[in-house]
Amino acid sequence: MSGNRKLYVKSYGCQMNVYDSHRMADTLTREGFVETAEPAQADVIILNTCHIREKAAEKVYSELGRMRALKRAAARDGRRVMLAVAGCVAQAEGEEIIRRAPAVDLVVGSQNYHRLPDLIARAAHGQVVETAFPIEDKFDHLAPATSAATRARGVSAFVTVQEGCDKFCTFCVVPYTRGAEVSRPVEKIVAEVERLTAAGVREITLIGQNVNAYHGEGRDGRPWTLGRLIERVARIPVIARLRYTTSHPSDVDDSLIAAHRDLPCLMPQLHLPVQSGSDRILAAMNRRHTRADYLRVIDRLRAARADLAFTSDFIVGFPGESEQDFRHTLRVVDEVGYASAFSFKYSPRPGTPAAERGDQIDEAEKVARLARLQEAIERHRQHFNARCRGRRLAVLFERPGRHAGQIVGRSPYLQPVQAMAPSALIGEIAEVEITDIGTNSLFGRLAEATSATAREPGLATQQA
Ligand code: 5AD
Ligand code: SF4
Repeated sequence: MSGNRKLYVKSYGCQMNVYDSHRMADTLTREGFVETAEPAQADVIILNTCHIREKAAEKVYSELGRMRALKRAAARDGRRVMLAVAGCVAQAEGEEIIRRAPAVDLVVGSQNYHRLPDLIARAAHGQVVETAFPIEDKFDHLAPATSAATRARGVSAFVTVQEGCDKFCTFCVVPYTRGAEVSRPVEKIVAEVERLTAAGVREITLIGQNVNAYHGEGRDGRPWTLGRLIERVARIPVIARLRYTTSHPSDVDDSLIAAHRDLPCLMPQLHLPVQSGSDRILAAMNRRHTRADYLRVIDRLRAARADLAFTSDFIVGFPGESEQDFRHTLRVVDEVGYASAFSFKYSPRPGTPAAERGDQIDEAEKVARLARLQEAIERHRQHFNARCRGRRLAVLFERPGRHAGQIVGRSPYLQPVQAMAPSALIGEIAEVEITDIGTNSLFGRLAEATSATAREPGLATQQA
């Protein structure tokens, strides 16, 4: 009977959650569940939620309303549907979710996913809330993906190497929802990457809330840095591309800079959030670096790899942010010249120090600053993209495009690139000559004498 149970998982928020959703699905597949993309057909629905900003959390509650309707419709057909809330809202709000949304059967925090089969069985007899931080390591108990599941997810995969955060930026819920920093041992990460590459994955993104604080145990029993881990993973055959995210500017060490200098497969794109360009606000955010420190890190990285493209996150309207502070942020955007960036209005999060401050910024002012910041970011993004016209970029093709005969992939800088090319190239890297720049994608044609599986040699020298 359970062999036919259908599972629908929806992921919100960061890549960490995407990874966790996959691992939850893998673990339940091992128990006989089959994944479906249709919530209306599912017997178990898991919403893997995000608590980072108020909007993200509110989205969950409106989705729960829709899911409750599905659950009722199924009940009318005599079918019992189980509704589970996982992720950071589950961790942060626990019981409160069931009070606000009584249709929820199970609330499961991010450190308990390996116990899902048991929790689902228990929830059949009454609502269950499990948000403890257990002693055992969930990664040791979560099922690995089957080759078929890995192939279905595409040629690019995430691998969590680090979880949690000890930084306590004053705006951020992550230290509370994900707990203290924990790094996975090097050999376990290597084994997981080897399994993924054996199933055809070509690009690996090592992920963690504070990934460059990685300090997992190496084979020598010592803690390894992220730079050292990357160097080890880069030696795994057939890995064409490596990335990592998200980094903290204060944790960029020499080994990481050396990795960018020495490893052609480490892609020349780095997400290095600065949040604000004002030293006063950076201090109030407890970011532990100044604007000058940040720019120095960027300079050192660029000296190691000249074509590195940077992306960032920004928060506008942090409590006490003056027009002058905000202008410093605009200046950083111009100084770095980001390839792209995410920007957010400050959102007070329960339990975080900044939420308690009396000098909150007016919503209208936040809206206005966000628009000004986004205009600046967009200007630089378009400039960055425009500079790619006429160049050859190595593209890892990922999937069919919207139009017949077209396939879509990513440049080394993560830009989507569309090209007319045979679908046999999906999963391969090919050189594309960029002919047009669209709003969100680049367009190009296959360059002649493309070497389909090359490791992107010489790329660094092709980008100015
Ligand atoms: N309000 C607005 N943005 C936030 N972020 C994190 N916490 C908040 C908050 N309370 C943003 C930061 C972070 C990104 C993931 O989300 O920019 O880097
Ligand atoms: Fe959202 Fe942050 Fe949790 Fe990721 S870690 S799901 S971004 S709150």
